[in-house]
Amino acid sequence: MTTLTEPCPMQAWADAERAAGRRIALVPTMGALHDGHLALVAEARRRAERVVVSVFVNPIQFERRDDFEQYPRPLDDDLRICAGARVDAVYAPSAAAMYPEGFQSAVEVARLTEPLCGAARPGHFRGVTTVVTKLFHAVRPDVAVFGEKDYQQLAVIRRMTADLDFGIEIVGVATVREPDGLALSSRNRRLGADDRAAARCVPRALDAAADVVRAGERRAAAVVARATAVIGAEGRARLEYAELRDPETLAEVTEVAGPALLALAVWVGGVRLIDNRMLVPEGDDR
Ligand code: PAF
Repeated sequence: MTTLTEPCPMQAWADAERAAGRRIALVPTMGALHDGHLALVAEARRRAERVVVSVFVNPIQFERRDDFEQYPRPLDDDLRICAGARVDAVYAPSAAAMYPEGFQSAVEVARLTEPLCGAARPGHFRGVTTVVTKLFHAVRPDVAVFGEKDYQQLAVIRRMTADLDFGIEIVGVATVREPDGLALSSRNRRLGADDRAAARCVPRALDAAADVVRAGERRAAAVVARATAVIGAEGRARLEYAELRDPETLAEVTEVAGPALLALAVWVGGVRLIDNRMLVPEGDDR
């Protein structure tokens, strides 16, 4: 496995692989790798002969300095995990390599970034689309793989890739969960034991909402209220948002007439957790 830390050597490595006729898949990450990332790597491996994992904690997508500083950075462990997963190259640039003195450019997607995490975290998606563009230019992959846990991020990257003619296939992979339903996230390792137990309210809220839809409820307000009640019953949790949205446009929906995305952001013990569930009314085969 090769480790590269600068854009030019990364481009040269990828150019050589492409010249040899090999397809390249990129898995962009911020490190602190877990089984959710390994599912992305496995999908990447199915779709290309060479797999690149990028590991970069991107300062410009954090709107809070403390969150950026506390973000775990176990690079040696990450490299070991990548080697064990037969990753071909890790791209782990420094902040100075990514944003050298004088850097002043950005890539921005408009409407899709306005609601949900975009409303709660001003500038976040601008930071994501800018760094993902730079990663795409460094690796120029045929395919890039992202997790569906960050549903809005995946939608925004799909839009950007199509709008700006990147010519890269974007693949989403289903969320990997702990046995009790909590979505895997690098942030989970910051949860103390009591908060970890409390965090279970997030998948429980999604389950409860899915249950009421299965029982015939179609009013978005009632479905959201059910999820909100489950979070509200957990004293250690604070709801940031619970919203039902159109899966394509992320516009608000008032009725579950077809598949609808329930998206949650919940704070537990100073850690912000996001999760989502596609709610599909009975008899809808889409
Ligand atoms: O999902 C993430 O880990 C990050 O937002 C990404 C896509 C690697 C960009 O920094």
